[in-house]
Amino acid sequence: MDSKKLTSSSGAPYYEHQDSQTVGSRGPVLLQDFILQENLAHFVRERIPERIVHAKGTGAYGKFTVTHDISKYTKAKLFSQVGNSCKMFARFSTVGGEKGSADTARDPRGFALKFYTEDGNWDLVGNNTPVFFIKDAKKFPDFIHTQKRVPRTNLKSPTMMWDFWSLNPESLHQVLILMSDRGTPYGYRHMHGFGSHTFSMINANNERTWVKFHFKTKQGIKNFSNDDATKMAGENPDFAQEDLCNAIDNGDFPKWTMYIQVMTEEQAKEFRWNPFDITKVWSQSEHPLIEVGEMELNEVPINYFAHVEQSIFSPSNLINGISFSPDKMLQGRLFSYPDAHRYRVGVNAHQLEVNRCPFAVNNYQRDGFMADSSEYKDKPNYHPNSFDDIQPDSSYKNFEYELDSNHVANYNRNENDDDHYTQPGLLYTKAMNQEARENLVKNIIDHMSGIDGPKRDEIINRQLCHFFRANIELGMKVASGLNINIDSNMMNHSK
Ligand code: HEM
Repeated sequence: MDSKKLTSSSGAPYYEHQDSQTVGSRGPVLLQDFILQENLAHFVRERIPERIVHAKGTGAYGKFTVTHDISKYTKAKLFSQVGNSCKMFARFSTVGGEKGSADTARDPRGFALKFYTEDGNWDLVGNNTPVFFIKDAKKFPDFIHTQKRVPRTNLKSPTMMWDFWSLNPESLHQVLILMSDRGTPYGYRHMHGFGSHTFSMINANNERTWVKFHFKTKQGIKNFSNDDATKMAGENPDFAQEDLCNAIDNGDFPKWTMYIQVMTEEQAKEFRWNPFDITKVWSQSEHPLIEVGEMELNEVPINYFAHVEQSIFSPSNLINGISFSPDKMLQGRLFSYPDAHRYRVGVNAHQLEVNRCPFAVNNYQRDGFMADSSEYKDKPNYHPNSFDDIQPDSSYKNFEYELDSNHVANYNRNENDDDHYTQPGLLYTKAMNQEARENLVKNIIDHMSGIDGPKRDEIINRQLCHFFRANIELGMKVASGLNINIDSNMMNHSK
């Protein structure tokens, strides 16, 4: 077949692409013009549901190279030797906005990585922040509703956001990061990435270590000021997309250095906070960063929809030697992502090029919408069987462990774990310099000024108590910027 000829989707060459088949030159149009039908019908099916969160994003392929030996912590083949490398895919995103929303919105940024390894695809679905707003998956839909739109007006609402945050003090750590200049990064190349949760690594001796993942930008941290982010949202809402594509197309490949922090099982038992609480960080002086490797992004996918929109990342895509932890958020995410993928892309989403494991995939899942049988062809579709030689390999047995408790309950999130203030206080005093603190206060005042309605004062006062409890100066400065008189009641709350 001459590849230059225009064809229908079934490959039949045709000529009339612009003029419909009509009765007479003025119509009506004939139903038998199947080219017209095909094009109109395909067109209205071009969209798939956008991601319920992280809808606006950018993706690129690249390479990950191991530069330091961490094989004493993990038996993952990727990390078995310095110099090992694998292909990878990364997708960066904002969280709350829709697919067409501005890239410079004040929001955490998604930092989702897919490593195509010999052990299978390993996904690390993180953010540009080491912590999160909540620590139990049960709260996630309610939290996200506050970041989206008011049901009646379809408008974004600082009132909803601060109402939720003020009623959920565990959010304070992440709120301070969000309101700092890191809440408006200068595109995706100038930000760090974090796995955020505590994960585990299992080594060849079947020993488990708790681990956190960090990716430090080699381009250096660069952020927009609040004003510049707002301005850029109007001038170029796709700023981050353009910045990443341009850099890669110009051969200026962005790079990140990967580190891990580790904690032994014994250390975890002694840790001051719950080591599996995603609202807390591990101090880097107690758990220093261990360098692991380098990731480089070097290829803009050939087709955005096929590779970026249809990409699927899941925290449950773990590999031999890298596993989960009891983190309640992470456990909820293990369910929610594959569930979202089956709805958004379909039950065979993992067969698409961007999601497919380039190494052998052998299982007995078959059929469903859009099944591509090119891998399993006519092989048996049940196990065990007498025809193929595919066998489960006992060296991949799950890590076995004892639980700390055998008592089942809906444990109150605050029980024994109600220190929501020490780490936010340290973030303000130790991690931020004077300029960062000033910008933080300015951004908070600007954002909280949008709180309105009959509950305005109640919400502001409740949130001020949290700021006071983290740091008195922070509370005083925000209160004064909002023209709130500090009463003794509020100060008492802060003690
Ligand atoms: C996307 C759920 C917490 C990072 C998503 C999606 C869902 C979801 C349903 C859309 C998936 C898709 O359609 O492909 C949840 C739930 C959470 C949670 C239920 C809490 C229990 C988090 C946390 C992080 C995070 C703590 C980061 C540390 C991301 C990223 C994406 C995403 C980066 C975009 C992935 C991509 O680029 O395709 N989340 N999420 N999420 N989430 Fe979460």
